[in-house]
Amino acid sequence: MGGQNLSPIDLPMVITIDGPAGTGKSSVARHVADRLRFDFLDTGAMYRAIALAAVRRQSDLDDPRELEFVARHARIEFDWSAHPPAVLLNDEPVGHLLRSAEVTAAASQIAVVAAIRRQLVDQQRKIGQNRCRLVTEGRDQGSVVFPDAQLKIYLDADPAERGRRRVAQLRARGEVVDPAEILRQIVERDQRDSGRSTGPLAVASDAKVIDTTHLTQQQVIDSIVQMAREQLRGVT
Ligand code: DC
Repeated sequence: MGGQNLSPIDLPMVITIDGPAGTGKSSVARHVADRLRFDFLDTGAMYRAIALAAVRRQSDLDDPRELEFVARHARIEFDWSAHPPAVLLNDEPVGHLLRSAEVTAAASQIAVVAAIRRQLVDQQRKIGQNRCRLVTEGRDQGSVVFPDAQLKIYLDADPAERGRRRVAQLRARGEVVDPAEILRQIVERDQRDSGRSTGPLAVASDAKVIDTTHLTQQQVIDSIVQMAREQLRGVT
């Protein structure tokens, strides 16, 4: 078979990292990609960029048809030469605009619209075809987008711990926050992400679940990198 002649550095490999908000997924995924020299895809940024377009147009976030229209006219691309890759919305770099409370709330409404999910899932699969060594992070990457991924990780943590991490993150940015409100938002977002009918937050049957509640970020990164290296060794 042709594959037997490939060296480990030639073999395509997709690593999916899914899980709820506040598990440290984004930074873990970014560091894992750096350590392995893989490309890094932040799929949440794609939902957030469409949310930004909707917020700018003052769209009715409860109107799926309007949101579909916004999404069809929002060309989301990545500048892969930046580190991490920069998100472009119709050629405009928008990475710095995607983390506001308004865009975060809107993204979770964008993410329930089935037609938008189909559009982004198609695009994510195309990216996977072009970037043959990819760490991709989101909610449905292992369960829906890349069912054949070589390594699937699902990160989890107690909601209370996720709330504490989020509060620390916001306070570090100088924001004044109410911890009880943050926890309420996390639980609400979990329910919306898990309850939607298309691409819900779900653990793929072949995913390795890591409960990060009592782990440092470094421990999580090390264990995923080790699993990936074992996987790469296993195929030679
Ligand atoms: O990971 P994040 O917080 O940047 O994601 C933003 C929103 O998009 C969040 O509500 C979950 C949703 N999302 C999704 O539904 N599917 C993905 N693959 C990535 C994010």
